[in-house]
Amino acid sequence: MFERRFAGELPPKHHLASRDADGRLRYEECLTRAGFDGPYSILYRIERPHLMRPLGTTSKPLIASQAASHSLRRRHFRSQDLPSAGTASNSRVALLFNDDLVLSVSKPVASDDGYFVNAEGDELLFILDGRGIIRSPFGDLHYAQGDYVMLPKGVLHRVVVDSGSAHWLSIESRSGIGIPGRFRNPVGQLRMDAPYCHRDFRVPEFKGPQDEHIREVTVRRDHAEHRFEIPHSPLDAVGWDGAVYPWAFHISNFQPRVSSVHLPPTWHGTFESPAALICSFVPRPLDFHPQAVACPYPHSSVDIDEVIFYVAGSFSSRRGVDSGSLSLHPAGIPHGPHPGRYEASIGAKYTEELAVMLDCTARLNTTSEASTIEDAAYEDSFHAQ
Ligand SMILES: [Fe+2]
Repeated sequence: MFERRFAGELPPKHHLASRDADGRLRYEECLTRAGFDGPYSILYRIERPHLMRPLGTTSKPLIASQAASHSLRRRHFRSQDLPSAGTASNSRVALLFNDDLVLSVSKPVASDDGYFVNAEGDELLFILDGRGIIRSPFGDLHYAQGDYVMLPKGVLHRVVVDSGSAHWLSIESRSGIGIPGRFRNPVGQLRMDAPYCHRDFRVPEFKGPQDEHIREVTVRRDHAEHRFEIPHSPLDAVGWDGAVYPWAFHISNFQPRVSSVHLPPTWHGTFESPAALICSFVPRPLDFHPQAVACPYPHSSVDIDEVIFYVAGSFSSRRGVDSGSLSLHPAGIPHGPHPGRYEASIGAKYTEELAVMLDCTARLNTTSEASTIEDAAYEDSFHAQ
């Protein structure tokens, strides 16, 4: 859902008959978003894309933690304590969710052995650790530590994990994830004062038809995994044209704003969904008024469940959190800096903090899996000196 791109062999117009050198007709697959006014892409294929045969369905419901539904408190989950196991697609552990959003963590040790389609919603990864390739009919998109990776709803792909550890946060939104409207001009281009520019976004390197001899596709929809067999390689694209494709954006390309006094989180907004504003906290000079309190003030975000995924650096307002920690500060009760952090921040000039924050517009539920990695002492940490 970004600027229009194209690659490979294209017919002179969409839906004109196109044939290869042997006279065989090529096929189109149109990925259409939200009707006629939404973005779309067309893949030009060797084989008919709809020759999928159902193999079976496995239900994957999200189970809410019973205790959480009765307890309004600040919470801390340590995703760094989850074991590394499995592939990108089967290692995901859902931690927080509502009717629109699912926040999961994956720590895979192996590449996907089949192709995967997320038909629930757009998926934005934040790569805390690891590197590899998102392989799709659009080509190979390389990802590494510090990247946001966008996997649009409905795009078939396979995640290749390079050797070594991998760890990422997955943000899924049924209502879609994109560029905040305030960063675009009336013709859809990024404005000059947007915190990034088009060249910061990396797109797949088109490879042309590929055959990895994998014939199974898993489609996730309605909290179930539906497996299909296909008689040919789904990477049989000879070209593509459109605005729906995977892309990557390194968090260091987000240009932070600074001020003489504290700026609210909306200034750190990077991507958005109707369900959440996704913010990047990156290394930057701190507030430069001589009497500025660099730490955020205690606050009640009365409409927002706030989630922070801690990446690196010393977070000015927190103690006891590490890389991989995920905090949940729910609407309804105030939250703010840990004891001592507010006072200690006066006079600070620079922060090395790196984190991804979500301001979520609907109440988040915690899963049973989240309760297994919860830091039970977190609430008390706000009261200790
Ligand atoms: Fe907050």
